[in-house]
Amino acid sequence: METHTAEWLSLLARWVHIIAAIMWIGNSMLYNWMDRNLRPGKDHNETKFGELWMLHGGGFYRLEKFRAQSSTLPPLLYWFKWQSYTTWISGFALLILVYFQSRGAFLLNPANDLSYGEGVATALAFLATGWLVYDILWRIPSKGSGIKIVLSLLLLVFAVKFATDTFSGRGAYLMVGAMLATLMSGNVFFHIMVSQRKMMADIESGQDQDMALYTRAKTRSIHNNYITFPVIFTMMSNHFANLYGHPLNWAILLILMCMSALIRHFMNIRFTWKPWFAACVATFLVSGLLLFLVFQFGAKPAHASSAAASATDGPAVTFDEARPIIQNRCLPCHSETPSTDNPMYAALATTTGGVHFDTPEQIKAYAERIKIRAIDQDTMPLGNMTGMTTEERTTLARWLAAGASIH
Ligand code: HEC
Repeated sequence: METHTAEWLSLLARWVHIIAAIMWIGNSMLYNWMDRNLRPGKDHNETKFGELWMLHGGGFYRLEKFRAQSSTLPPLLYWFKWQSYTTWISGFALLILVYFQSRGAFLLNPANDLSYGEGVATALAFLATGWLVYDILWRIPSKGSGIKIVLSLLLLVFAVKFATDTFSGRGAYLMVGAMLATLMSGNVFFHIMVSQRKMMADIESGQDQDMALYTRAKTRSIHNNYITFPVIFTMMSNHFANLYGHPLNWAILLILMCMSALIRHFMNIRFTWKPWFAACVATFLVSGLLLFLVFQFGAKPAHASSAAASATDGPAVTFDEARPIIQNRCLPCHSETPSTDNPMYAALATTTGGVHFDTPEQIKAYAERIKIRAIDQDTMPLGNMTGMTTEERTTLARWLAAGASIH
């Protein structure tokens, strides 16, 4: 696709995606909050769940939740579905525009022998399989949901490990997020809407509300509520190369997802469970400790450890020796005039956020980030598309360790 067209489309999709997601997740939070704050009103009876008063924008709202009976259907009834569908559709468009463009530069891991076509097919199969496995598991009738919750968590561990083994770190985080978001929209489309339509048909034909349909819709709606925090993290994870670029990126992702879902849980029960805040803080601290252990004692990127270890011993490196490496390995994308050797460079050059290494001053200005991305984390050159060698990383590391002088 022509680069500028792709950029404009990506802006439009991103904008719509964020607005729709805010509306949808905002609703999920609000409805959950309302449910947990219902109180029995004066005229409480067995058809009512409870009622609640709210003040917003200078007006009072009185809300009542009840079981519908054939006689109670109002002429105008609002229900929400397009927030969810719009979020999914715009998200899928972004997946294509960002991750399936540039021959999968952001999606694929250059160390894996996956062709572009195979990578895209695997990504799509990952979304579909995630939904099918989850949906079948939760369709199986059972007394309690304990075992299903444990199985779902095990499946999540498996999915995260599969994604990080298959895709690039950045691609893996995004794909796990896209898969979970697909479960959320799938829940709306295949369960919540279906149950609600059936409920309406029953009531219109003179029957009272079937509580089994209510439970089915509500269970999936609560799943969605728990998935929101983890998904929001994955959707902004592309800003955190230190996380997705880490060799233990799967463990980091699992810790952050479990932490945020637990915090969501404590926030949900906060009205009836006093120590909720302490529990949030404890969850936060334990996760922080686990992350500390991963970063302190976990494996380091293979290139990074050797490059960093040999950065200080050996001869000092001058700018004249370091610059050609940057010119050959980084400039194809990081330049005012990107290389034409590969059409993808020009496309990617528009997404570097204007980080250019054309002049010595520019290189100097970004020295710290160059060290982080190319030496410490090994997340640049992107997908190692320019084929940077370990020796070159070591040379660059020595120049940076000696103060990154450009004179
Ligand atoms: C194939 C294209 C490509 C090559 C080659 C490339 N980069 Fe990048 N670079 C990108 C893209 C795309 C981004 C923006 C996305 C991101 O940050 O991951 C980026 C972002 C960056 C950033 C800014 C973001 C930050 O974390 O500060 C730095 C610094 C960087 N690259 C350093 C390098 C260095 C150093 C090299 C050479 C060793 C290099 N890049 C080679 C495509 C490339």
